[in-house]
Amino acid sequence: MAEKKEKFYITTPIYYTNGMPHIGHTYTTIVADTLRRYKKMRGYDVVMTTGTDEHGVNVERAAKKADIPESEFVARMAEAWKKLWDDLGLTADEFVRTTDLKHVRAVQWLFKLCKENGYVYKGHYTGLYCIYDNAYVSEPKPGNLCPDCDRPLETVTEENYFFKLSAFQKPLLDFYKKFPDFIQPETRRNEIISFVEGGLKDLSITRTTIRWGIPVPGEEPHVFYVWFDALTAYLSAVGGPDYEKRGMWPADVHLVGKDIIRFHTVYWPAFLMAAMLPLPKQVWAHGWFLMDAAKMSKSKGNVVLPRPIVNMLGMDALRYFLLREVVFGQDGNFSYDALVTRYNSDLANGLGNLASRTAAMLEKNFAGVVPKPGARLPQDDALAKEAQNAIGEVLERYDRFEFARALEAIWAVIAAADKYLTTEQPWALGEGPDEQSRKATILWTTAELLRIVSALAHPVLPESTGKIWALLGGQAVNISATPLDGLRWGQLAPGTKLGRFQALFPRVEKTEAVERIEAMANEELNPTQPPVAAPAPTTAGAAATPAPAAAAPEKIGIEDFTKVEMRVGQIKTAERIVGADKLLKLTVDIGTEIRQICAGIAQYYEPEALIGRKVAVVVNLAPRKLRGVESNGMIIAASVGPEGRPVLAGFHEDVEVGSRLK
Ligand code: MSP
Repeated sequence: MAEKKEKFYITTPIYYTNGMPHIGHTYTTIVADTLRRYKKMRGYDVVMTTGTDEHGVNVERAAKKADIPESEFVARMAEAWKKLWDDLGLTADEFVRTTDLKHVRAVQWLFKLCKENGYVYKGHYTGLYCIYDNAYVSEPKPGNLCPDCDRPLETVTEENYFFKLSAFQKPLLDFYKKFPDFIQPETRRNEIISFVEGGLKDLSITRTTIRWGIPVPGEEPHVFYVWFDALTAYLSAVGGPDYEKRGMWPADVHLVGKDIIRFHTVYWPAFLMAAMLPLPKQVWAHGWFLMDAAKMSKSKGNVVLPRPIVNMLGMDALRYFLLREVVFGQDGNFSYDALVTRYNSDLANGLGNLASRTAAMLEKNFAGVVPKPGARLPQDDALAKEAQNAIGEVLERYDRFEFARALEAIWAVIAAADKYLTTEQPWALGEGPDEQSRKATILWTTAELLRIVSALAHPVLPESTGKIWALLGGQAVNISATPLDGLRWGQLAPGTKLGRFQALFPRVEKTEAVERIEAMANEELNPTQPPVAAPAPTTAGAAATPAPAAAAPEKIGIEDFTKVEMRVGQIKTAERIVGADKLLKLTVDIGTEIRQICAGIAQYYEPEALIGRKVAVVVNLAPRKLRGVESNGMIIAASVGPEGRPVLAGFHEDVEVGSRLK
C-alpha cells in the first residue's frame, strides 16, 4: 500500500446532452466507479470526474426543436444525467458541465497558452463535416456519408483558428515510445501509432458557423471546436489554471470508448504539449456493447437502458454482468437472456446462496455467533490457501483492468466453497463435542471465505458485499474503507455476533424477468402514460432528439395525475400461471366490467385468499401480455423492503366497487 496517500485521478468521457444514457455510457461510468472504489480500498486519494458535453450544433438544434433556450435545455439534461448516475449509485467526485464558468475560463486559458507558445494561427477551412460526431471528415463514404455513423455530411467553409497539430507528430511518437502504457489496450496503441506515423494535418479549433459554444475572447463570433472545449473538462474539473493547488492533475487514467480514442491520444496530448502542461498517464479504450451485432443507437432502435435492468435485478447485477461478460477492451454482445442467466447462476446460486446458507447454518448451530474453529483438516487448509492466493491474483487483475478475470478468480473460490460444503456436510454432523468442533471449523472457514470474497468483489458489487460484511461483522465494519492490502485469511474473530441477514439476489424466472425488463424499457422509450413518479428518460443514443420529458420537473401537475384512472376493484377469481412462479392471473370486477389482470404477487399471496378482496386498480393502462397472458390493468401494491415484497393496497371501510380513486 502507498505509505502516504497517493493520488489517483480517473475520468469518464464528458457525455453529450442530446440524449439520455444507455448501457454503453453506463458501462464506462460503472468501470470508473469500480476503479474509484478499488483504488480507495488500496489507500489512494481518489477523484473521479464525469460530466456533460453541452455545446455544439446538435444541442443548438435539439433546443430549437424543444422550443427552449439552449441554456435551459442543457441545464435540464445535465440534471437528468446527474440524477440517473445518483440513482444508480454512480456518484462522481466531480461533475463538470462544459457550460460551467470555471470550465469556460479553463478553455480560454488553454487556448491562450497554445497561442502564446506559437501553436495557433488563423486561416480558412472548407470541408465536409459530420454534425453528429462534431468532426470534419476527410474520407467520406459514397454519397457523402459519414464513415463513422453513416449519416449525411455537410459542406462547411469558415474562418478558423488552427492548431499546429502537424508540429506534434514526432513529439507524440516519442511520447508513445517513452510511455508504452499510455494507450491501452495494445491493439489501440498500434492503431494510433500508425495513424500518427501517416502524418498529422493541422486542426481547426474554432468555429464561426456555430453559435452555441465557448467564445474565443476578443474574437467573436469564433467559438471553440467542441473537442477542444470538451477535452479541457478533465482539467477544469480539478482546478483548471490552478490545477497545481488541487494536486490531482495529470489524470492517471482517462476511460473512453474506442470510438473516441484518437481525440484522447492524439489531439489532447498535443494540446497539452503545446500549452506545456503535464500529460495524462494513460488512456484506456474499452470496446462497445453491441445489440444485435450493431452499436446501440436510438435511430436503430437497439438501445438498452440501465434503469429497467436495475429495477428488476438490482444495480450490482448490472455491474457484475457488464464487467464479467466481456473482456475489458473488446466488443461484446448484450443480451437480456445472458444477463438473467448470469444473474441466476453466479449471483443468486453463487454468492447469494453461499451467503444465505452460511448465515442460516451459523444461526441454527451457533445462535448467530461466529464460532471458534477447532482442529483443522487438510481440506480446511486447502480452501484457506485457495482464498488467500486469490487475494494477490485478484488485486493484480484489477490493477491490469482485467475485471472479467478478477471476477472469474473470485468466483472460482466461491465454487470451491460450495464444493467444500457439499463434501463436508456440516448439516449432517451431530451434537457431540467432536462433531460440534468440526462443525465450528467448517462454518468458521466458510464464513471467513465469504468475508474475503466479499472484500475482493466489493469494487464491483458494492451493495451486496456491504450487506455480507454487515452480516459477518455486525454494523461496525465499513467494507469500503477496508484496506485491501491488509486483507488476510484468518481475520474473522470468533465470538462476533452476526448482523441481520438481508436478502441478496432472489432467484428470478428467466422468461418473466426478461419480459418485465423489456416492458419497462419499452415504456421508458415510448411512454404510453405520463410519467407519474421520476421523470422517465425518453431518448438515448448520440443522435437522439431532445428529451423534454427526461428533463421534466419532478413534480407533476394535477392534469397529469388525473390522466391516471384508478378504481376500486373486487377480485373474483385468482389462479397461478403455469411456468411463471411469480404471476397470478386474476379476474377483477371494476364496476363497469370484469377485467383480466396479471399481478406479480404469487410468491406472497395464496390465490384462494384473494377472492372477494377489494383492491385499487389502474384501469386505463394499455393492455399488455405477461408470459403470454393478457393483462388489462394494474393492481396497486406497496413494494416493501429490499426484496420489494408486494403488499396490496386496500381500504379500511367498505367501498363500492367501481368508485374512482382521486
Ligand atoms: N462528448 C463526447 C466525449 C467527450 S470527452 C472529452 C462523446 N460523448 S458520447 O456521449 O457520445 O459518448 C461517450 C462514451 O460512451 C464514449 O466513450 C462511447 O464510446 C461510449 N459509448 C457509447 N455507446 C457505446 C456502446 N454501445 N458501448 C460501449 N460504450 C459506448 O463521445
